[in-house]
Amino acid sequence: MDSVKQVLFVFGTRPEAIKLSPVVRRMRQACPEIAARVCVTAQHREMLDQVLDCFEIRPDFDLDLMTPGQTLAAVTARILTALDPVLEREPWDMVVVQGDTTTTMAASLGSFYRGIPVAHVEAGLRTGDLAQPFPEELNRVVTSRLAALHFAPTEGARSNLLAEGTPEGRIFVTGNPGIDAVLSVAEALGQGRLTSRDWPWLDGRKLIVVTAHRRESFGDGIEQICGALAELARRPDVQVAWPVHRNPRVCGPVTERLGDVPNIQLLDPLDYVAFVDLMRRSHLLLTDSGGIQEEAPSLGKPVLVMRESTERPEAVDAGTVKLVGADSCRIVCEATRLLDDEAEYCRMTRIHNPYGDGHASERIAALIGRYLA
Ligand code: UD1
Ligand code: UDP
Repeated sequence: MDSVKQVLFVFGTRPEAIKLSPVVRRMRQACPEIAARVCVTAQHREMLDQVLDCFEIRPDFDLDLMTPGQTLAAVTARILTALDPVLEREPWDMVVVQGDTTTTMAASLGSFYRGIPVAHVEAGLRTGDLAQPFPEELNRVVTSRLAALHFAPTEGARSNLLAEGTPEGRIFVTGNPGIDAVLSVAEALGQGRLTSRDWPWLDGRKLIVVTAHRRESFGDGIEQICGALAELARRPDVQVAWPVHRNPRVCGPVTERLGDVPNIQLLDPLDYVAFVDLMRRSHLLLTDSGGIQEEAPSLGKPVLVMRESTERPEAVDAGTVKLVGADSCRIVCEATRLLDDEAEYCRMTRIHNPYGDGHASERIAALIGRYLA
Protein backbone atom coordinates (compact mmCIF):
# COMPACT_ATOMS: atom_id res chain seq x y z
CA MET A 1 0.00 0.00 0.00
CA ASP A 2 1.15 3.55 -0.73
CA SER A 3 1.79 5.80 2.24
CA VAL A 4 -1.23 6.57 4.39
CA LYS A 5 -3.05 9.73 3.28
CA GLN A 6 -3.60 12.48 5.84
CA VAL A 7 -7.12 13.90 5.92
CA LEU A 8 -8.15 16.68 8.30
CA PHE A 9 -11.82 17.27 9.13
CA VAL A 10 -12.39 20.85 10.30
CA PHE A 11 -15.64 21.87 11.94
CA GLY A 12 -16.87 24.17 14.64
CA THR A 13 -20.62 24.25 15.24
CA ARG A 14 -23.31 21.77 16.29
CA PRO A 15 -24.75 21.06 12.82
CA GLU A 16 -21.34 20.57 11.21
CA ALA A 17 -20.42 18.09 13.93
CA ILE A 18 -23.69 16.15 13.53
CA LYS A 19 -23.21 15.86 9.78
CA LEU A 20 -19.46 15.16 9.71
CA SER A 21 -19.25 12.70 12.62
CA PRO A 22 -20.73 9.83 10.57
CA VAL A 23 -18.16 10.52 7.83
CA VAL A 24 -15.24 10.57 10.29
CA ARG A 25 -16.44 7.34 11.86
CA ARG A 26 -16.96 5.65 8.51
CA MET A 27 -13.54 6.70 7.25
CA ARG A 28 -11.86 5.41 10.41
CA GLN A 29 -13.69 2.08 10.18
CA ALA A 30 -13.51 1.38 6.45
CA CYS A 31 -10.57 3.29 4.95
CA PRO A 32 -7.24 1.97 6.35
CA GLU A 33 -5.41 3.89 3.63
CA ILE A 34 -6.51 7.18 5.24
CA ALA A 35 -5.62 8.69 8.62
CA ALA A 36 -8.69 10.78 9.46
CA ARG A 37 -8.02 13.46 12.03
CA VAL A 38 -10.29 16.10 13.50
CA CYS A 39 -9.71 19.78 14.21
CA VAL A 40 -12.53 21.65 15.94
CA THR A 41 -12.49 25.42 15.87
CA ALA A 42 -15.07 25.35 18.69
CA GLN A 43 -16.90 28.26 17.09
CA HIS A 44 -19.58 26.68 19.33
CA ARG A 45 -18.43 25.27 22.65
CA GLU A 46 -21.09 23.51 24.76
CA MET A 47 -23.33 22.77 21.76
CA LEU A 48 -20.38 21.26 19.89
CA ASP A 49 -19.19 19.23 22.86
CA GLN A 50 -22.65 17.66 23.20
CA VAL A 51 -22.28 16.22 19.69
CA LEU A 52 -18.65 15.13 20.13
CA ASP A 53 -19.72 13.21 23.25
CA CYS A 54 -22.68 11.67 21.48
CA PHE A 55 -20.61 10.36 18.54
CA GLU A 56 -17.55 9.64 20.70
CA ILE A 57 -15.23 11.83 18.64
CA ARG A 58 -12.17 13.14 20.46
CA PRO A 59 -10.63 16.02 18.47
CA ASP A 60 -6.95 15.87 17.62
CA PHE A 61 -6.82 19.68 17.63
CA ASP A 62 -9.15 21.97 19.57
CA LEU A 63 -8.75 25.66 18.77
CA ASP A 64 -11.24 26.56 21.53
CA LEU A 65 -12.20 29.82 19.84
CA MET A 66 -15.70 30.66 21.00
CA THR A 67 -16.20 33.90 22.87
CA PRO A 68 -19.57 35.13 24.17
CA GLY A 69 -21.39 37.31 21.64
CA GLN A 70 -18.66 36.90 19.01
CA THR A 71 -18.89 39.00 15.85
CA LEU A 72 -18.62 37.56 12.35
CA ALA A 73 -15.40 39.45 11.66
CA ALA A 74 -13.73 38.44 14.92
CA VAL A 75 -14.57 34.76 14.64
CA THR A 76 -13.46 34.67 10.99
CA ALA A 77 -10.13 36.31 11.85
CA ARG A 78 -9.53 34.02 14.83
CA ILE A 79 -10.23 30.87 12.81
CA LEU A 80 -7.86 31.87 10.02
CA THR A 81 -5.11 32.74 12.47
CA ALA A 82 -5.49 29.76 14.81
CA LEU A 83 -6.02 27.14 12.10
CA ASP A 84 -2.98 28.07 10.03
CA PRO A 85 -0.36 26.44 12.32
CA VAL A 86 -2.41 23.21 12.24
CA LEU A 87 -2.55 23.32 8.45
CA GLU A 88 1.19 23.98 8.35
CA ARG A 89 2.31 21.28 10.78
CA GLU A 90 1.45 18.20 8.64
CA PRO A 91 1.50 17.45 4.91
CA TRP A 92 -2.31 17.24 4.74
CA ASP A 93 -3.61 15.59 1.58
CA MET A 94 -7.10 16.97 2.03
CA VAL A 95 -9.25 19.11 4.33
CA VAL A 96 -12.93 18.22 4.69
CA VAL A 97 -15.50 20.88 5.60
CA GLN A 98 -19.27 20.85 5.79
CA GLY A 99 -22.08 23.29 5.15
CA ASP A 100 -22.09 27.04 5.37
CA THR A 101 -20.80 28.39 8.67
CA THR A 102 -17.96 30.81 9.29
CA THR A 103 -15.79 27.81 10.19
CA THR A 104 -16.61 26.21 6.81
CA MET A 105 -15.69 29.30 4.84
CA ALA A 106 -12.60 30.29 6.86
CA ALA A 107 -11.22 26.72 6.95
CA SER A 108 -11.65 26.48 3.18
CA LEU A 109 -9.88 29.79 2.68
CA GLY A 110 -7.06 28.84 5.05
CA SER A 111 -6.61 25.53 3.24
CA PHE A 112 -6.55 27.30 -0.11
CA TYR A 113 -3.82 29.62 1.15
CA ARG A 114 -1.81 26.52 2.14
CA GLY A 115 -2.49 24.75 -1.17
CA ILE A 116 -4.47 21.91 0.44
CA PRO A 117 -7.41 20.55 -1.59
CA VAL A 118 -10.79 20.96 0.10
CA ALA A 119 -13.72 18.55 0.02
CA HIS A 120 -17.07 20.21 0.72
CA VAL A 121 -19.90 18.15 2.21
CA GLU A 122 -23.44 19.51 1.64
CA ALA A 123 -22.29 21.46 -1.42
CA GLY A 124 -24.51 23.36 -3.82
CA LEU A 125 -27.32 24.62 -1.58
CA ARG A 126 -28.47 28.06 -2.70
CA THR A 127 -31.27 30.54 -2.12
CA GLY A 128 -29.75 32.89 -4.70
CA ASP A 129 -30.02 35.76 -2.18
CA LEU A 130 -26.88 36.76 -0.28
CA ALA A 131 -29.08 38.32 2.44
CA GLN A 132 -30.91 35.06 3.23
CA PRO A 133 -29.65 33.20 5.08
CA PHE A 134 -27.03 35.69 6.25
CA PRO A 135 -24.10 35.15 6.15
CA GLU A 136 -24.49 31.46 5.20
CA GLU A 137 -25.33 32.02 1.52
CA LEU A 138 -22.04 33.87 1.03
CA ASN A 139 -20.15 31.20 2.99
CA ARG A 140 -21.49 28.53 0.64
CA VAL A 141 -20.63 30.44 -2.50
CA VAL A 142 -17.07 31.15 -1.31
CA THR A 143 -16.57 27.55 -0.19
CA SER A 144 -17.76 26.19 -3.53
CA ARG A 145 -15.32 28.45 -5.36
CA LEU A 146 -12.45 27.07 -3.24
CA ALA A 147 -13.36 23.37 -3.10
CA ALA A 148 -11.85 20.58 -5.19
CA LEU A 149 -14.58 18.03 -4.43
CA HIS A 150 -18.26 18.85 -4.02
CA PHE A 151 -20.55 16.38 -2.25
CA ALA A 152 -24.04 17.53 -3.21
CA PRO A 153 -26.94 16.11 -1.18
CA THR A 154 -29.44 16.25 -4.06
CA GLU A 155 -29.66 16.56 -7.85
CA GLY A 156 -30.94 20.11 -7.33
CA ALA A 157 -27.77 21.04 -5.45
CA ARG A 158 -25.72 19.48 -8.23
CA SER A 159 -27.58 21.62 -10.81
CA ASN A 160 -26.83 24.76 -8.78
CA LEU A 161 -23.12 23.96 -8.89
CA LEU A 162 -23.16 23.19 -12.60
CA ALA A 163 -24.93 26.50 -13.28
CA GLU A 164 -22.02 28.29 -11.57
CA GLY A 165 -19.47 26.53 -13.79
CA THR A 166 -18.26 23.91 -11.30
CA PRO A 167 -16.57 21.11 -13.29
CA GLU A 168 -19.04 18.23 -13.66
CA GLY A 169 -16.46 15.57 -12.78
CA ARG A 170 -15.86 17.17 -9.36
CA ILE A 171 -19.53 17.00 -8.23
CA PHE A 172 -20.97 13.85 -6.63
CA VAL A 173 -24.55 13.42 -5.46
CA THR A 174 -24.12 11.52 -2.20
CA GLY A 175 -27.08 12.48 -0.01
CA ASN A 176 -26.51 14.30 3.24
CA PRO A 177 -24.71 12.44 6.06
CA GLY A 178 -27.04 14.27 8.48
CA ILE A 179 -29.64 11.72 7.36
CA ASP A 180 -27.23 8.90 8.27
CA ALA A 181 -27.06 10.45 11.74
CA VAL A 182 -30.80 10.91 12.27
CA LEU A 183 -31.80 7.52 10.88
CA SER A 184 -29.23 5.64 12.94
CA VAL A 185 -30.20 7.43 16.17
CA ALA A 186 -33.94 7.06 15.49
CA GLU A 187 -33.49 3.36 14.78
CA ALA A 188 -31.42 2.83 17.94
CA LEU A 189 -34.09 4.65 19.98
CA GLY A 190 -36.81 2.56 18.34
CA GLN A 191 -34.98 -0.67 19.16
CA GLY A 192 -34.15 0.40 22.72
CA ARG A 193 -30.39 0.42 22.04
CA LEU A 194 -30.47 4.09 23.04
CA THR A 195 -32.55 5.21 26.00
CA SER A 196 -35.39 7.70 25.72
CA ARG A 197 -35.18 10.75 27.96
CA ASP A 198 -37.75 10.96 30.73
CA TRP A 199 -39.53 14.33 30.45
CA PRO A 200 -42.05 14.54 33.30
CA TRP A 201 -43.88 17.45 31.64
CA LEU A 202 -44.75 15.43 28.52
CA ASP A 203 -48.39 14.50 29.04
CA GLY A 204 -49.65 13.16 25.70
CA ARG A 205 -51.03 16.42 24.30
CA LYS A 206 -49.93 17.41 20.79
CA LEU A 207 -46.31 18.48 21.11
CA ILE A 208 -44.99 21.43 19.12
CA VAL A 209 -41.19 21.45 19.05
CA VAL A 210 -39.57 24.79 18.26
CA THR A 211 -36.07 25.98 17.41
CA ALA A 212 -34.90 29.32 16.02
CA HIS A 213 -31.54 31.00 15.66
CA ARG A 214 -31.17 32.76 12.27
CA ARG A 215 -29.52 36.16 12.22
CA GLU A 216 -32.21 37.51 9.84
CA SER A 217 -34.74 36.93 12.64
CA PHE A 218 -32.87 38.75 15.42
CA GLY A 219 -35.07 41.48 16.87
CA ASP A 220 -38.52 41.64 15.31
CA GLY A 221 -38.51 38.10 13.90
CA ILE A 222 -37.78 36.54 17.31
CA GLU A 223 -40.49 38.78 18.83
CA GLN A 224 -43.00 37.59 16.19
CA ILE A 225 -42.09 33.94 16.77
CA CYS A 226 -42.48 34.35 20.55
CA GLY A 227 -45.86 36.07 20.07
CA ALA A 228 -47.08 33.19 17.89
CA LEU A 229 -46.01 30.59 20.44
CA ALA A 230 -47.61 32.43 23.34
CA GLU A 231 -50.87 32.35 21.38
CA LEU A 232 -50.59 28.68 20.32
CA ALA A 233 -49.73 27.66 23.90
CA ARG A 234 -53.15 28.93 25.05
CA ARG A 235 -54.77 25.94 23.32
CA PRO A 236 -55.63 23.23 25.85
CA ASP A 237 -54.75 20.42 23.42
CA VAL A 238 -51.09 21.37 22.79
CA GLN A 239 -47.83 21.77 24.63
CA VAL A 240 -44.75 23.57 23.36
CA ALA A 241 -41.09 22.62 23.90
CA TRP A 242 -38.26 24.91 22.78
CA PRO A 243 -34.61 23.93 23.36
CA VAL A 244 -33.24 27.44 23.12
CA HIS A 245 -30.05 28.18 21.16
CA ARG A 246 -27.28 29.65 23.32
CA ASN A 247 -26.76 32.71 21.14
CA PRO A 248 -27.49 35.62 23.53
CA ARG A 249 -29.43 37.39 20.75
CA VAL A 250 -31.81 34.40 20.90
CA CYS A 251 -31.86 33.10 24.48
CA GLY A 252 -32.04 36.62 25.98
CA PRO A 253 -35.29 37.75 24.33
CA VAL A 254 -36.87 34.28 24.27
CA THR A 255 -36.36 33.73 28.00
CA GLU A 256 -37.61 37.21 28.79
CA ARG A 257 -40.72 36.89 26.63
CA LEU A 258 -41.69 33.23 27.20
CA GLY A 259 -39.92 32.23 30.43
CA ASP A 260 -43.09 32.43 32.52
CA VAL A 261 -45.69 31.49 29.91
CA PRO A 262 -47.65 28.42 31.04
CA ASN A 263 -47.51 25.44 28.74
CA ILE A 264 -44.17 26.41 27.15
CA GLN A 265 -41.07 24.47 28.18
CA LEU A 266 -37.91 26.44 27.49
CA LEU A 267 -35.05 23.93 27.61
CA ASP A 268 -31.29 24.13 27.37
CA PRO A 269 -29.93 22.83 24.03
CA LEU A 270 -30.49 19.08 24.00
CA ASP A 271 -27.89 16.47 23.21
CA TYR A 272 -28.52 14.94 19.79
CA VAL A 273 -30.10 11.70 20.99
CA ALA A 274 -32.53 13.59 23.22
CA PHE A 275 -33.42 15.99 20.43
CA VAL A 276 -34.09 13.20 17.91
CA ASP A 277 -36.23 11.57 20.59
CA LEU A 278 -38.17 14.82 21.05
CA MET A 279 -38.69 15.12 17.28
CA ARG A 280 -40.02 11.55 17.18
CA ARG A 281 -42.53 12.39 19.89
CA SER A 282 -43.59 15.70 18.33
CA HIS A 283 -46.79 16.44 16.44
CA LEU A 284 -45.17 19.17 14.38
CA LEU A 285 -42.00 21.27 14.27
CA LEU A 286 -41.61 25.02 13.97
CA THR A 287 -38.06 25.93 13.05
CA ASP A 288 -35.66 28.03 11.02
CA SER A 289 -32.96 25.37 11.23
CA GLY A 290 -31.46 23.90 8.08
CA GLY A 291 -30.71 20.51 9.60
CA ILE A 292 -34.18 20.05 11.05
CA GLN A 293 -35.76 20.78 7.64
CA GLU A 294 -33.79 17.80 6.36
CA GLU A 295 -34.30 15.44 9.30
CA ALA A 296 -38.03 15.86 9.92
CA PRO A 297 -39.23 14.44 6.54
CA SER A 298 -37.20 11.29 7.31
CA LEU A 299 -39.15 10.99 10.55
CA GLY A 300 -42.49 11.79 8.90
CA LYS A 301 -42.96 15.00 10.90
CA PRO A 302 -44.45 18.15 9.32
CA VAL A 303 -42.29 21.27 9.48
CA LEU A 304 -43.29 24.90 9.31
CA VAL A 305 -40.16 26.84 8.40
CA MET A 306 -40.02 30.28 9.95
CA ARG A 307 -38.11 31.85 7.07
CA GLU A 308 -39.02 33.60 3.83
CA SER A 309 -36.86 31.39 1.61
CA THR A 310 -35.06 28.09 1.80
CA GLU A 311 -32.09 26.48 0.09
CA ARG A 312 -33.80 23.13 0.69
CA PRO A 313 -36.72 23.16 -1.75
CA GLU A 314 -37.10 19.38 -2.12
CA ALA A 315 -39.29 18.84 0.94
CA VAL A 316 -41.31 22.00 0.20
CA ASP A 317 -41.99 20.64 -3.29
CA ALA A 318 -42.99 17.29 -1.79
CA GLY A 319 -45.44 19.09 0.52
CA THR A 320 -44.02 18.00 3.90
CA VAL A 321 -42.34 21.32 4.69
CA LYS A 322 -43.99 24.73 4.37
CA LEU A 323 -42.47 28.23 4.52
CA VAL A 324 -44.31 30.54 6.92
CA GLY A 325 -41.82 33.37 7.52
CA ALA A 326 -41.04 34.87 10.90
CA ASP A 327 -44.53 36.36 11.00
CA SER A 328 -46.80 35.83 13.97
CA CYS A 329 -50.11 35.67 12.07
CA ARG A 330 -48.85 33.24 9.44
CA ILE A 331 -47.23 30.98 12.02
CA VAL A 332 -50.41 30.82 14.13
CA CYS A 333 -52.64 30.35 11.08
CA GLU A 334 -50.58 27.49 9.53
CA ALA A 335 -49.95 25.74 12.85
CA THR A 336 -53.66 25.95 13.69
CA ARG A 337 -54.54 24.44 10.34
CA LEU A 338 -52.19 21.51 11.01
CA LEU A 339 -53.58 21.05 14.52
CA ASP A 340 -57.24 21.13 13.43
CA ASP A 341 -57.35 19.74 9.90
CA GLU A 342 -56.55 16.04 9.99
CA ALA A 343 -56.47 15.64 6.21
CA GLU A 344 -53.96 18.48 5.87
CA TYR A 345 -51.89 17.01 8.72
CA CYS A 346 -51.82 13.58 7.07
CA ARG A 347 -50.75 15.12 3.76
CA MET A 348 -47.68 16.60 5.50
CA THR A 349 -46.62 13.49 7.43
CA ARG A 350 -45.57 11.27 4.54
CA ILE A 351 -42.15 9.77 5.37
CA HIS A 352 -39.70 10.49 2.60
CA ASN A 353 -35.97 11.08 2.34
CA PRO A 354 -35.19 13.71 -0.27
CA TYR A 355 -31.90 14.50 1.46
CA GLY A 356 -30.40 11.05 1.71
CA ASP A 357 -30.90 7.33 2.24
CA GLY A 358 -28.68 6.90 5.30
CA HIS A 359 -25.58 5.88 3.33
CA ALA A 360 -24.05 9.25 2.40
CA SER A 361 -21.04 8.85 4.68
CA GLU A 362 -20.08 5.56 3.00
CA ARG A 363 -20.17 7.24 -0.42
CA ILE A 364 -18.23 10.30 0.74
CA ALA A 365 -15.49 8.26 2.45
CA ALA A 366 -15.12 6.05 -0.64
CA LEU A 367 -15.00 9.03 -3.03
CA ILE A 368 -12.33 10.78 -0.96
CA GLY A 369 -10.37 7.53 -0.88
CA ARG A 370 -10.58 7.25 -4.67
CA TYR A 371 -9.56 10.90 -5.17
CA LEU A 372 -6.49 10.46 -2.97
CA ALA A 373 -5.46 7.04 -4.35
C1 UD1 B 1 -23.78 29.50 13.85
C2 UD1 B 1 -23.62 29.61 12.35
C3 UD1 B 1 -24.92 29.24 11.62
C4 UD1 B 1 -25.41 27.89 12.08
C5 UD1 B 1 -25.54 27.90 13.59
C6 UD1 B 1 -25.96 26.55 14.09
C7 UD1 B 1 -22.14 31.32 11.43
C8 UD1 B 1 -21.98 32.74 11.06
N1 UD1 B 1 -23.30 30.99 11.98
O1 UD1 B 1 -24.67 30.53 14.26
O2 UD1 B 1 -24.69 29.20 10.22
O3 UD1 B 1 -26.67 27.64 11.48
O4 UD1 B 1 -24.28 28.22 14.19
O5 UD1 B 1 -26.41 26.60 15.40
O6 UD1 B 1 -21.24 30.53 11.23
N2 UD1 B 1 -22.96 30.21 22.00
C9 UD1 B 1 -22.68 29.65 23.24
N3 UD1 B 1 -22.42 28.30 23.32
C10 UD1 B 1 -22.45 27.49 22.22
C11 UD1 B 1 -22.76 28.06 20.97
C12 UD1 B 1 -23.00 29.42 20.88
O7 UD1 B 1 -22.64 30.34 24.25
O8 UD1 B 1 -22.20 26.29 22.34
C13 UD1 B 1 -23.21 31.67 21.92
C14 UD1 B 1 -21.93 32.50 22.12
O9 UD1 B 1 -22.24 33.67 22.80
C15 UD1 B 1 -21.54 32.80 20.67
C16 UD1 B 1 -22.91 33.00 20.05
O10 UD1 B 1 -23.72 32.00 20.64
O11 UD1 B 1 -20.70 33.95 20.56
C17 UD1 B 1 -22.97 32.95 18.55
O12 UD1 B 1 -22.35 31.78 18.03
P1 UD1 B 1 -21.94 31.75 16.46
O13 UD1 B 1 -21.39 30.43 16.13
O14 UD1 B 1 -21.12 32.94 16.12
O15 UD1 B 1 -23.32 31.98 15.73
P2 UD1 B 1 -24.64 31.10 15.73
O16 UD1 B 1 -25.78 32.04 15.81
O17 UD1 B 1 -24.52 30.03 16.73
N1 UDP C 1 -30.34 19.78 17.49
C1 UDP C 1 -29.83 19.21 18.68
N2 UDP C 1 -30.26 19.71 19.87
C2 UDP C 1 -31.16 20.74 19.96
C3 UDP C 1 -31.64 21.31 18.76
C4 UDP C 1 -31.20 20.82 17.55
O1 UDP C 1 -29.04 18.28 18.63
O2 UDP C 1 -31.50 21.13 21.07
C5 UDP C 1 -29.86 19.26 16.20
C6 UDP C 1 -30.89 19.02 15.12
O3 UDP C 1 -31.40 17.70 15.18
C7 UDP C 1 -30.09 19.26 13.85
C8 UDP C 1 -29.07 20.32 14.26
O4 UDP C 1 -29.01 20.27 15.68
O5 UDP C 1 -29.38 18.11 13.46
C9 UDP C 1 -29.49 21.67 13.79
O6 UDP C 1 -28.62 22.62 14.34
P1 UDP C 1 -28.93 24.18 14.26
O7 UDP C 1 -30.39 24.41 14.19
O8 UDP C 1 -28.16 24.78 15.40
O9 UDP C 1 -28.20 24.61 12.93
P2 UDP C 1 -28.62 24.62 11.38
O10 UDP C 1 -29.04 23.25 11.00
O11 UDP C 1 -29.72 25.62 11.21
O12 UDP C 1 -27.39 25.07 10.69
